[in-house]
Parts: sequence; C-alpha cells; structure tokens
Amino acid sequence: MIFVTGGAGFIGSNFVLQWCRNTDETVLNLDALTYAGNLANLQSLEQSSQHRFVQGDIRDSELLARLFAEHKPRAVLHFAAESHVDRSIIGPEAFVETNVVGTFRLLEAARAYWNGLEAADKAAFRFLHVSTDEVYGTLGPNDPAFSETTPYAPNSPYSASKAGSDHLVRAYHHTYGMPVLTTNCSNNYGPYHFPEKLIPLMIVNALAGKPLPVYGDGQQIRDWLYVEDHCAAIRRVLEAGKPGETYNVGGWNEKANIEIVQTVCALLDELAPASERNVSDSRSGTPLARYDELISYVTDRPGHDRRYAIDARKLERELGWKPAETFETGIRKTVQWYLANQEWVAGVLDGSYRDWVQTQYGAKA
Ligand code: NAD
Ligand code: TYD
Repeated sequence: MIFVTGGAGFIGSNFVLQWCRNTDETVLNLDALTYAGNLANLQSLEQSSQHRFVQGDIRDSELLARLFAEHKPRAVLHFAAESHVDRSIIGPEAFVETNVVGTFRLLEAARAYWNGLEAADKAAFRFLHVSTDEVYGTLGPNDPAFSETTPYAPNSPYSASKAGSDHLVRAYHHTYGMPVLTTNCSNNYGPYHFPEKLIPLMIVNALAGKPLPVYGDGQQIRDWLYVEDHCAAIRRVLEAGKPGETYNVGGWNEKANIEIVQTVCALLDELAPASERNVSDSRSGTPLARYDELISYVTDRPGHDRRYAIDARKLERELGWKPAETFETGIRKTVQWYLANQEWVAGVLDGSYRDWVQTQYGAKA
C-alpha cells in the first residue's frame, strides 16, 4: 500500500481519487483535517476498502511509528502542508510547525521504518515530497523559467517553510541514502480547490455578486497546472523517478492574474449568465450584466512575487510526462465543476462540511 499525507486537501484528495481509479493498491490517508481538509472530497470512496482514512497530525511521532509498523507502506506521498501564502503572512508559525517540523517528524518515522526493511523492500521504498515552485523566489519578465538547478530564494513564510522541508528531504538522501523524490510544481487549479485561492474564490464570489479582489495591478504571473495533470506527474515520478532527484512540474501556462479573472468571468457569462441567475452587485444592488463588473483592485499582498514559470522539460525528457490539458480546456472543466457542485461549495462556505464529516466519518476518523 501507499501512505499519503494530506489526502483530504485539494491536491491530495484529487490524487487519492485518481489513484483509486487507476490502481487496485490501497491508500492509507493521514490528514489532520485542518480548515483545508475536507473529507467530503472523498465521499465517492466512502464504501471503498481501498481507502483507509486516519485523522491525525504529521507531527505526532508515536502515531507515525504505529502507522508504519501496522501498514508497511511501500511509499510515502507527502502532500500535507499549510499551503496558503496570505495565511502565512498573518500567522507564519503554523507553517513552520507543519511544513518544517511535520516534514522532519515524517522523515524520521520513515527512516526508522525504512532501516528495518529487508534489502529488496528497502531499495524499492520511496518517499515522495510534494513541493512548490515558490521556493525559487520570483522572476523578472525576461528571466528563463525555473529549472531544477535554479537556486532557492523563497520570499514568503510559506515558501521559506517549504524550502526548509525540501532541504531536509534532500539531506535524508545525501546523509542516510533514503530513496527520496521531490516534485516542485506550479499553481494548481481544478475540482475541490478551497475557495480562498484565486480561481475558486473568483468563481464563488462572482456567482454571489461579491467583489472579485485583484491584488495590486493584477499583472503578477503564475504558471497554471491542472490538478489531474499534476497528480499524473506524481504517479509517474513515483513509478520511474530516480531517488535523490527533483522534478519540476508545470503546465506551460503563464498567465497574468487579471487575465485569469477575466477568463473566469467570460466562462461564467457563457455558462451561467448573471441575468438568468438574477445576480446583483452586492455593493450597489444593481443587477449584473457581466461578471467582470465585479472586478475590484485591492491593496497588494506584502512581498508579492511577480512571476513564476516552470521549465518542466526534465520530466518530459526523462520520464515522458507532459500535461494533457491546455489552460483553455482545464479552466472550462474547472468552472463547469464548480457550477455542478454548488452543494460542495455551500458546505465549505458555511462550514457545514465539518458537521457532515463528523456524521459520515465519525466512527472511521
Ligand atoms: P491544501 O491546503 O488544500 O491541503 C493540505 C492538507 O494537509 C489538508 O487536508 C490539511 O488538513 C492537511 N494538513 C495540514 N496540516 C497538517 C498536519 N500537521 N498533519 C496532517 N495533515 C495536515 O493544500 P494543497 O493545495 O492540496 O497542497 C498540497 C501540497 O502541494 C502542499 O505540500 C503544497 O505546498 C503543495 N503545492 C500546492 C500548490 C497549489 O497550487 N495548491 C502548488 C505547489 C505546491
Ligand atoms: P493564490 O491562489 O493565493 O496562490 P499563490 O499565492 O500560491 O500563487 O494566488 C494566486 C495569485 O493570485 C497570486 O499572485 C495572488 C493573486 N490573488 C489575487 O489577486 N486576489 C486574491 O483574492 C487571491 C486569493 C490571490
């Protein structure tokens, strides 16, 4: 079996769902269910014995030792993290706790377990660490995209804590020979994305007639990766990646934030016109003709990185992975998913997903 951490979050839950669709191998899923963890994402696996959920913290060394001993995973896929830059600016401590200390404890538990394995299992074991392109810092308009050899220069407490975890993972290979793999990916988007992040926030706010807050001049660039493509890349790296190596994962989709917001608005105008849904501007009460009337430029994020771009050629060249979605296909699927899953959105917004989890999973969690 494989051992996933953070499998109730955005990318982790997409990964678990994709894994269970494509393999028969069991997934042990450890997640603390912070505000970002939502077991409703995994509702379709409720009756499946392929998915075993444990509510717990990656900093809990005793729990980790017990889970390794009981379940004997062949691999760890480490998604659990505090992941939102804005939250890291307001409260950085949780980021150091989970991303640095939590990763350290997970590495220690994995190392103790790995040391006790038979030679063949020891060689086959993998610890795959899911990280971010934000560890590389920010790019100027004409700089080449981040490659695996770009020096680290994290700028936010979030990216600094992820960089710390990457360094620990690297050291466990260099010092102890642990078969680790690290992936550094760009901004993901797609189903089950928590609506505090740019794309889901814009969809959810637009449908509610609320302002669409664009930070600063909206010209910051991100390289958008459809989450299913990211999950496929992780499966490929797990299968064929070389221990000790890092792989950048990107979508070849550099877009300015304002362009993203305008694209979301245009898709909503097409798929869910404001006039048909009787959406009014919450500020003025005036009926909306187009969703982009809600765009509102707000104060910029402190230390806001200007541009991220990923050079994903190593992954394509060495492991044959490239994204299946273009931005146009991926964003359309995403907007359609949010429109078709308004109940999921409502549950997240009013917090009732927590009660639902308790009722549905109380005994299992
Ligand atoms: P997320 O915030 O949606 O989910 C994180 C999950 O981890 C949640 O389910 C949460 O409950 C769990 N968690 C948090 N602290 C924990 C702890 N101490 N113990 C156990 N579980 C804990 O994050 P995401 O967007 O799914 O990101 C997954 C990983 O991918 C993270 O490591 C993140 O740094 C990385 N990443 C994300 C993006 C992106 O665009 N979302 C981009 C690059 C890298
Ligand atoms: P976000 O989704 O928070 O991801 P990250 O900060 O990890 O890249 O933000 C994506 C971009 O969108 C980033 O440049 C900040 C910007 N942004 C806004 O302009 N308005 C918003 O309300 C949010 C949440 C983000």
